[in-house]
Amino acid sequence: MGLKHKTADLKKRMREAVKGGGSKAIEKQKAIGKKTARERILSILDAKSFHEYDLFVEHAGRDFDMDKKFLPGDGVITGTGSISGHPVCIYAQDFTVAGGSLGWAHAKKITKIMDHAMKLKIPIIGINDSGGARIQEGVNALAGYGEIFYRNTQASGVIPQISVILGPCAGGAVYSPALTDFVFVVDKVSKMFITGPEVIKTVLGEEISMEELGGAKVHAEITGNAHFFAESEEECFDQIKQLISFIPWNFEKKAETFPKKPPKTRQYNIDDIMPTDPRQPYDVRDVIKSISDDSEFLEIHEYFAANIVIGFSRIAGQTVGLVANQPLVLAGVLDVDSSDKAARFIRYCDSFNIPLITLVDLPGYLPGVEQEHAGVIRHGAKVLYAYSEATVPKITVIMRKAYGGGYIAMCSHHLRADFVCAWPTAEIAVMGPEGAANIIFRNEIKNAENPDEMRKQKIKEYKNKFSNPYVAAAYGYIDAVVEPRETRNFLVHALEVSGLKSEKGPKKKHGIPPF
Ligand code: HXC
Repeated sequence: MGLKHKTADLKKRMREAVKGGGSKAIEKQKAIGKKTARERILSILDAKSFHEYDLFVEHAGRDFDMDKKFLPGDGVITGTGSISGHPVCIYAQDFTVAGGSLGWAHAKKITKIMDHAMKLKIPIIGINDSGGARIQEGVNALAGYGEIFYRNTQASGVIPQISVILGPCAGGAVYSPALTDFVFVVDKVSKMFITGPEVIKTVLGEEISMEELGGAKVHAEITGNAHFFAESEEECFDQIKQLISFIPWNFEKKAETFPKKPPKTRQYNIDDIMPTDPRQPYDVRDVIKSISDDSEFLEIHEYFAANIVIGFSRIAGQTVGLVANQPLVLAGVLDVDSSDKAARFIRYCDSFNIPLITLVDLPGYLPGVEQEHAGVIRHGAKVLYAYSEATVPKITVIMRKAYGGGYIAMCSHHLRADFVCAWPTAEIAVMGPEGAANIIFRNEIKNAENPDEMRKQKIKEYKNKFSNPYVAAAYGYIDAVVEPRETRNFLVHALEVSGLKSEKGPKKKHGIPPF
């Protein structure tokens, strides 16, 4: 057979292989708003950049009549490509082929592209749409998952790992995403659970729909398993592209720098954001936008633990990671979930050379039996650990309240912030003036002729002493008191002079964070 015939034969084989599970199965997926696995890859990557590998891999199942079945590509597409010129490795499970279930060859394809990503030191994106371990392949399927989980762990902190959940992901299909850095979900399309509704009904007699058990909203708002929530697959792909623009290819690189752009000060004027009444809340995201290039802010975990805000923006063209208390929700307190959320993000930024900017306005950790019993000590300690451990440039702005443990935890000098500035509105104290006066002036208040009047007087006394940044400034715990409108200048300069910062902790195998 000459080249012409061999080429025709190749094309025929390729046509067969790219059909996936066939037109009927594809239509079923389309009817529920899903793109095919190949369309998903092509929508995320730059046009014509996708190069596919292992198209002709065949499945290894021999039991339960599996040897008679042809599973194109064994239900997963793998390859390399680029996003706005940034190289990435990518794979997408194809639900139309045996429910995207993971057999031995399917797992081999995934682990091969993961190994590639590690060798090339570029991000890996996994599009998950799978019923989990392929039941007919038994222990070989479980082995495949084990190999993936091991690689996820080895790659953690080396290259960015992104998981996109675009279907009903069950069993092992959800643990790999849980080990990666960012998980994206799409409303009505994504589902994640260890055991589905059928098993729950059989074992526990409880009835619940897939959506209520592990739908996109559940993971974006309640469990925190998902970092990004989108209404459609298209919106999700745009979010992935935006994220890729903010992060470096690997832990040895810095994120791409962009031309400097001023914030949109007409929309986000920093002088107008903070209410005059210190008890009134405001949206800290407006502060972030008022100091960020072009007021662009990519929020992560937007709907989970909203009392803290985290995400990426750029200042003078450089990517920064923002951690900010949100006075709009629970007065911005630290609690179990917000501590988890912040600590993990701090560690991400530290792993990938992204300077951290912390905006502080919180009355402390959330008190109460529920929080204590939920382990607020252990979870809250994660924030202390993550900030203390981080060696990237750390810059802190105390805007208003910085009370008690909250003051220390939100990247104070004591946890080795490089620069701490405070606005004139800052209040740095062990606790709020009302609580403090009730404790330290208890006897004076109790024995006074007019206890209410005495309480007011003592609260005022305490406020005069501590409800300002100058006591902390006198001890050098803050480096500068700046007007809000000077904040961006302060940050630009601090980032500039921290450009060569290089710090190493004590020699050890690894620390033991309060996981
Ligand atoms: C083999 C599977 C499969 C699996 C689905 N299919 N899951 N084949 N192994 N794990 C096949 C179905 O038989 C069907 O084949 C096709 O995929 C589509 O599945 P449907 O059930 O028709 O789709 P849908 O109604 O949308 O339901 C999707 C689903 C459901 C919720 C994912 O299929 C399901 O519950 N699957 C099993 C999930 C599960 O328990 N997985 C855990 C595996 S154990 P046909 O030929 O009919 O089209 C595991 C352990 C790892 O993962 C642990 C690591 C820590």
